Amino acid sequence: MLPFELISPDVAIKQKLQQVYLSEYGILYQGDCRKFLSALPDESVDLVFADPPFNLGKEYGEGVSDRMKTDQYLSWSQKWLDQSIRVLKPGGSLFVFNLPRWCIDYGAFLNQKGMWFRHWIACRMPKAFPRGKKMSPAHYGLIYYTKGEPAVFNKVYTPIQVCRHCGGEIRDYGGHRKRLNEKGINLMDVWDMPEDVWEDASEANSNEVLWALTEEMWTDIPPVRHRRHKKRVPNELAPIMLERIIAMASNPGQIVVDPFGGSGTTFYAAEKLHRYWIGSEIGDTEPAIERLTDLANGIIEEWESARGNKKLKQRKTAGSQLLIP
Ligand SMILES: C[S@@+](CC[C@H](N)C(=O)[O-])C[C@H]1O[C@@H](n2cnc3c(N)ncnc32)[C@H](O)[C@@H]1O
Repeated sequence: MLPFELISPDVAIKQKLQQVYLSEYGILYQGDCRKFLSALPDESVDLVFADPPFNLGKEYGEGVSDRMKTDQYLSWSQKWLDQSIRVLKPGGSLFVFNLPRWCIDYGAFLNQKGMWFRHWIACRMPKAFPRGKKMSPAHYGLIYYTKGEPAVFNKVYTPIQVCRHCGGEIRDYGGHRKRLNEKGINLMDVWDMPEDVWEDASEANSNEVLWALTEEMWTDIPPVRHRRHKKRVPNELAPIMLERIIAMASNPGQIVVDPFGGSGTTFYAAEKLHRYWIGSEIGDTEPAIERLTDLANGIIEEWESARGNKKLKQRKTAGSQLLIP
């Protein structure tokens, strides 16, 4: 089934899901994550990515509380996690991004539900800050589970880390170093358009840089402050993070789900990597619509990153249709 066939108009009305964007690859609903997930058929999607509010008291707009009691937050989380498990096909992948504090409870719940633990990926926080009688937090958790034996695991390669002062390699690859960039590794197999990710960085040239299999520590995810959406409240993730996840755990033509769409990073990455997608967002969907419309019009967004500003790039892509509610 294609994503457009997963939720019938009757069910969408019943669950108060309003279709706000439709493209060749995906469909976005404005509505509640639980209503959205419960509208999806059993075992109908290949990959779920969830970046829920972290319960830090942020303002996400009307109808969203980001200041719940611990029990309430966990019980709410378990409901959408449960639904996420239900909609995944056997072997499908689930990625959840949150503070380590919540990832621990999520992991315990997913273990109990029989999901297979794959990885705890540490996404390094760019800024350190003091926290009273605690250590300074340095990473967000990205937990990766599958519904049984993983159906898809593509090896994704990332540039090996070098010291920004001396250029020397940070990790010791020991006896395996000579295997890096071995003949036959074709980055395009899993990373359709690396030049769109690091367009003006030397990393884009696989001949100049050594690449290694992606590790569990992601230190290259930049903070995003999208110029046009600087005033947005939700935290926008960097496209490279979603591209990596989607390239690793799905194949072109498969279906990716994001129930907490925000500014549409998951949908943007799915479009770029030719995966189908379906998602929901309870709050303002304009930033996601604007972003996807830009992409459909061949405008790759300009965003600030830890590696410098990316230039706006025009690229011809398939058209899409904007649905005004
Ligand atoms: C951390 S942000 C996600 C940001 C997104 N990953 C991005 O890159 O733009 C969480 C989002 O979940 C939305 N949200 C909160 N509660 C929701 C609910 N019950 N159903 C659907 N979306 C919800 C918020 O409005 C917010 O946009």
